[in-house]
Amino acid sequence: MVELNITDLHVSIGDKEILKGVTLSVEQGQVHAIMGPNGTGKSTLAYTLMGHPSYEVTSGTATFKGQNLFDMATDERSRSGLFLAFQYPVAIPGVTVANFLRTAVNARRKALNPADKGIPILEFRNLLKEKMNLLKMDHSFAGRYLNEGFSGGEKKRAEVLQMAVLQPEIAILDETDSGLDIDALKIVSEGVNLLKEQNVGVLLITHYQRMLNYVKPDFVHVMMGGRIVESGGAELALHLEEHGYDWIREKVENGRNGS
Ligand SMILES: Nc1ncnc2c1ncn2[C@@H]1O[C@H](COP(=O)(O)OP(=O)(O)OP(=O)(O)O)[C@@H](O)[C@H]1O
Ligand SMILES: [Mg+2]
Repeated sequence: MVELNITDLHVSIGDKEILKGVTLSVEQGQVHAIMGPNGTGKSTLAYTLMGHPSYEVTSGTATFKGQNLFDMATDERSRSGLFLAFQYPVAIPGVTVANFLRTAVNARRKALNPADKGIPILEFRNLLKEKMNLLKMDHSFAGRYLNEGFSGGEKKRAEVLQMAVLQPEIAILDETDSGLDIDALKIVSEGVNLLKEQNVGVLLITHYQRMLNYVKPDFVHVMMGGRIVESGGAELALHLEEHGYDWIREKVENGRNGS
């Protein structure tokens, strides 16, 4: 069973501590949603797990497949099956979606089997077509430069396409639902559900219950002040939608005063 295990993780940017002890584990086939107010460290967690150089791990651990994640270079993390979809994906001019994905698929195959000669072009084309159909994407997308001139919704769809093609073991999605119209939200959610069926573990960072109407999380966590302060099942997201975060803030405050 592949797991991402995060224990008491502390992360700083410059001299400012952002994550103040995050503990979380995600197994293959589980969907975990992380919610929480703006600026509480959700994206920081995602960037740290992917190895962004601005985020300094000051203490705590993260392991993926039993290996220390922070000993692995960023590309090694993704080759070994950890996928991160960014809140603000960057454009890569001159690299088409198809080329990008083929390179990524080959890197992943080589990581699994060093003798691998790469995916045959026809097989790759069929794989790409199949996944694009699934996500109801126009095939012309494959020939476009990655994220260049993509609309907000198209970028999100392109990310889910990457996941569908790459078949990671654990995927981290940072606000993949933001900026999606209702149809796109459904399609992207179906993509996530499909990943779950294929035993991918998903860490879904989101602000709204609406995506969770389509993707049923096994666990919902609330991050506040750089910590996970509340965890529950899908019903927690519904409760938050109705009552906001104040009751959790109070609970956290009282807990501090009490201790
Ligand atoms: N490069 C940086 N330099 C200084 N502070 C930073 C930097 N990056 C992030 N921060 C701060 O870290 C805190 C957490 O940011 P983060 O992006 O993780 O929040 P978030 O929970 O993802 O918020 P949102 O819901 O708005 O996406 C914020 O106060 C932010 O201003
Ligand atoms: Mg964020």
